Amino acid sequence: MDAQSDFPVYQDDSKPMEERIEDALHRMTLEEKVAMCHAQSKFSSAGVPRLGIPDNWATDGPHGIRAEGLWDKWDQAEWTNDSCIAFPALTCLAATWNPEMSLLYGKSIGEEARYRNKNILLGPGVNIYRTPLNGRNFEYMGEDPLLASRMVVPYVRGVQENGVAACVKHFALNNQEINRHSVNVNVSDRALYEIYLPAFKAAVQEGQAWAVMGAYNLYKGQHCCHNQYLLNDILRREWGFDGVVISDWGGTYDTKQAAYNGLDMEFGTGTNGLTTGVVNAYDDYFLSKPFLRMLQAGEIDEKIVDDKVRNILRMVFRTNMNKHRPWGLFGTAEHALTGRQIAQEGIVLLQNKRSLLPIDLNGVGKILVVGENALKMMTVGGGSSSLKAKYEISPLDGLRKRVGNQVEVVYTPGYISRSSGNNNEVTAEAIELAKDADLVIFIGGLNKDDFQDCEDSDRKNLGLPYGQDQVIEELSKVNKNIVVVIISGNAVAMPWIDKVPAVVQGWYLGTEAGNALASILVGDVNPSGKLPMTYGVNLNDYGSHALGEYPGGKEETYHEGIFVGYRWFEKQKIRPLFPFGHGLSYTTFSYGKASASSKVITGSDELNVSLPVRNTGSREGKEVVQLYVRDVKSSVERPYKELKAFRKIHLKAGEEKHVDFTVTVDDLKYFDEEKHDWIAEPGRFEILIGSSSADIRSVVGFELKQQ
Ligand code: BGC
Repeated sequence: MDAQSDFPVYQDDSKPMEERIEDALHRMTLEEKVAMCHAQSKFSSAGVPRLGIPDNWATDGPHGIRAEGLWDKWDQAEWTNDSCIAFPALTCLAATWNPEMSLLYGKSIGEEARYRNKNILLGPGVNIYRTPLNGRNFEYMGEDPLLASRMVVPYVRGVQENGVAACVKHFALNNQEINRHSVNVNVSDRALYEIYLPAFKAAVQEGQAWAVMGAYNLYKGQHCCHNQYLLNDILRREWGFDGVVISDWGGTYDTKQAAYNGLDMEFGTGTNGLTTGVVNAYDDYFLSKPFLRMLQAGEIDEKIVDDKVRNILRMVFRTNMNKHRPWGLFGTAEHALTGRQIAQEGIVLLQNKRSLLPIDLNGVGKILVVGENALKMMTVGGGSSSLKAKYEISPLDGLRKRVGNQVEVVYTPGYISRSSGNNNEVTAEAIELAKDADLVIFIGGLNKDDFQDCEDSDRKNLGLPYGQDQVIEELSKVNKNIVVVIISGNAVAMPWIDKVPAVVQGWYLGTEAGNALASILVGDVNPSGKLPMTYGVNLNDYGSHALGEYPGGKEETYHEGIFVGYRWFEKQKIRPLFPFGHGLSYTTFSYGKASASSKVITGSDELNVSLPVRNTGSREGKEVVQLYVRDVKSSVERPYKELKAFRKIHLKAGEEKHVDFTVTVDDLKYFDEEKHDWIAEPGRFEILIGSSSADIRSVVGFELKQQ
């Protein structure tokens, strides 16, 4: 007991964290230590009741707080007070290209988690978008490591302001769902460091994430939840991570590996990671009785469990033993509005010929809405991110509410997703109705069912399911005023692209989905989202498919290496359907000439790049100004260009702003496998500034000189 205080040292938060940890650790029995290292229910692990150290409670993540479940079952507990606000899916957040939205998202979802007494939020997810078939892409932040890095950091910080640990997942190389428990990913160090790790590193080092979840798959022959290379060498040693490594549910396979290869807390063992499993098997967990027995027998040194408990206690002190943390808020109108704002900034206007959008409400008498996704609940399904939302406004309801009695809105499904359904009749009905509508809005895309945007399975192809392509084609023959809204977390093929004037990428938008979509369609809000991934015309446009190992078997080699997303399209000179960073507005922006502060820089210099951007249209709007770097001549193969910075700016009609960027030598580097280090080669570089990766408006060159 400390002389100055009534509390033991570990409970005294005026004492340094590490001192408190050692104090608590020394009071604990071996059994109590081991008990902290594994689950005691589906989503909780034990604290130390004798010492007043509380249990840990985790929740999915990453789009809202999952409904309460039964102690040892996946079924919901049927509480009546656990309906959350569903925020837009992370692909939509990434599409805002606005780190302020990310902070707001993290802060709000963190408040929801805190109110529900969860101290671990299982998210965000930052696995890179390698193939458009990955069933979980909607839970991640796109194909580019810089974009994902800049967006993940504020999310993590926002969550953790609430005394809730963000658990960044799935570390690492979990880029598909097929074979997710068994595939061993072979990837070059260069691709690992340049493409797959940066967002995790940013979350850990800049976001100061308190928890990381291991992935299901293998790397270098070891499961990622107990992986010497990823967890001990990279996460702990290279990055200095001091938080907790949590297994994915059912991702632990062996006591010794779990003991030595970096896992701190084991969850979900004995289940298939999602649904079925052995009942109350927590004593049999690899880090439970088997671990205790090996420790007692001296086969594993006690300092191994001590290190794990230190990590866990550190998280506990930062979260549910932090006396200063706020109380949280749950299901509030403010959170719903935050979700709506994020949705509105993330929706992407892909195409808008004849300025068909925004809808001129005075110019249309009858709108026909076609497509199942106009009604389908999208906060439910998709696997572990499925939510019990307080409410969800469907696109149809949102539109009807917005247009009121001014315009007649007629709905017809146009196609049926259930295999037993007969599409011919419903399609024929839609075609008939489309003939005399002033405007047709087709709202389709994917959904959260198996083999769509859903955990545990991947999509089977790039096309739209349920015959939607045909419905769109037919509609376009009878009505030229057609808007296609794609609700999905993935790119889809659009063989009808030249036959429809307007296309909107609507993502999964959460509780306020319909209101957000309506506000974009009628122009209350000017769209400003930009694609966080490249839309290919065909599946083979993507390196992961062109080079052929997807989905692999026991082994899968990422032959495309660093050429993921636009890096691949640009290398192969493949014209995408819609490029990375693309997104239109109802106004127009003109970019002036970029100027750099110097023509030559050396090692420690910074280069300031600046350019004027003007809103040349008649309404206010936001633009994402993107800065790419190109290494003009290099001794190693490099992408044509790489995103290194972006700014989202707001401009009133006619307004001009100067956009400033700072480029450092770090932005010029590639990862040298032999040196195991980042290298910038002297020589010529270019800064390319544009409105998308394929719409470069200004280029400025400079030289990096040897120091
Ligand atoms: C998923 C994780 C999730 C966990 C708990 C697993 O199946 O891969 O992302 O957090 O279940 O629901």
